[in-house]
Amino acid sequence: MIMAQSAFKRLLVGVTGGIAAYKAAELVRLLVRQGVKVQVVMTPAACQFITPITFQALSGQPVFTDLWDDRIDNGMAHIEFSRDSDAILVAPASADFLAKLAQGRADDLLSTLCLARSCPLMVAPAMNVQMWHNPATQRNVELLKKDGVLVFGPESGEQACGDEGMGRMLDVGALLEALEASQQPKLLSGKKFLITAGPTFEAIDAVRGITNLSSGKMGYAVARAAMEMGAEVTLVSGPTCQPPPQGANLIKVVSAQEMLAAVMANLVGKDVFVAVAAVADYYVLNPSEHKIKKDAHILTLELAPNPDILANVVNLPDPPFCVGFAAESENLIEYAEYKRRRKNLPLLAANLIQDAFGADESELVLLDDKGAHPLPRAPKIILARQLLRHVAKMLPKKKDQE
Ligand code: C5P
Repeated sequence: MIMAQSAFKRLLVGVTGGIAAYKAAELVRLLVRQGVKVQVVMTPAACQFITPITFQALSGQPVFTDLWDDRIDNGMAHIEFSRDSDAILVAPASADFLAKLAQGRADDLLSTLCLARSCPLMVAPAMNVQMWHNPATQRNVELLKKDGVLVFGPESGEQACGDEGMGRMLDVGALLEALEASQQPKLLSGKKFLITAGPTFEAIDAVRGITNLSSGKMGYAVARAAMEMGAEVTLVSGPTCQPPPQGANLIKVVSAQEMLAAVMANLVGKDVFVAVAAVADYYVLNPSEHKIKKDAHILTLELAPNPDILANVVNLPDPPFCVGFAAESENLIEYAEYKRRRKNLPLLAANLIQDAFGADESELVLLDDKGAHPLPRAPKIILARQLLRHVAKMLPKKKDQE
């Protein structure tokens, strides 16, 4: 996993009693590696699963478990700890601890300092599938969300008790990503985005087709980043193996013509159109309904140009703010800027072909009327966030924001 810089300087990690407590050790280790000063507080039940010594070694800080601990100078641990933290993350958060939080109870150090906090609170629930689905737990989680507590996960899968289903704590990587995502400034609140992603597939016959090596990673990262920043997202995607981004309206298409139809049908009310898809330039005229039989003759396919989806949108009478992508193999800035002007785009993100397809990291150059803005090599989600911060600056301001 590529480490991002954390948005937090000081984080209080609360650990409650559940088998997922072992995952909290790795979480603390990775947070510390990101440069975060981590203060761990455990409930007595958590100490049955993993010892304070483990967290002390990983965080380099003394670990506290007791409200009456006399190492705390003025006996005000519940005030002091939350005052010294940018946020509290309880991971794992047991069903019992969620119930306590929802009711505002304070009968141990961790619940007391959660109640006395002046910083944001985040929880990563972890429990058995029946406990998670119990209406009492569901009520508590809803209450916590209403109170502004951020809830990360849980996820579904095999459980320590042998059951299958919802209730597993998020993997540490996913938890760190959720933590990072929750800290993005909501610069795109109320904005509606339409995004294309992935390749298109142009059928030759019932089983064969023409496509390209686009993985969809960049388009899906742009969709995720837009949602993190408060936007409503419709994602029109060609065939990819990417997991559906949670919270987006995902429309799956196959060919460029289907992609064009889906884009046109979903444009109404959109503020921004980001065309990340690597759309096939040609489609096969008269594809065969059946599988073409192999024989010794030369097979000739007749190809016709596909519609340019982005050009169709840009040339509408009242288009949304349009962002194009360009992958070039040489003379990146020169060719991409030529493309931007030819396509009449306010903003184009250019990258080199060797970076564009399949990789988790890339390097982008943003081109607009003011010039070239290079974004150094980084994971695609980080580039997507930087691109959208640039978009947010370029969007027309609402009257009350002027
Ligand atoms: O293929 P080309 O380099 O011209 O792509 C530039 C931009 O135009 C990209 O944003 C791509 O998604 C978009 N495009 C499109 N429809 C096409 C070809 C490209 O929307 N048929």
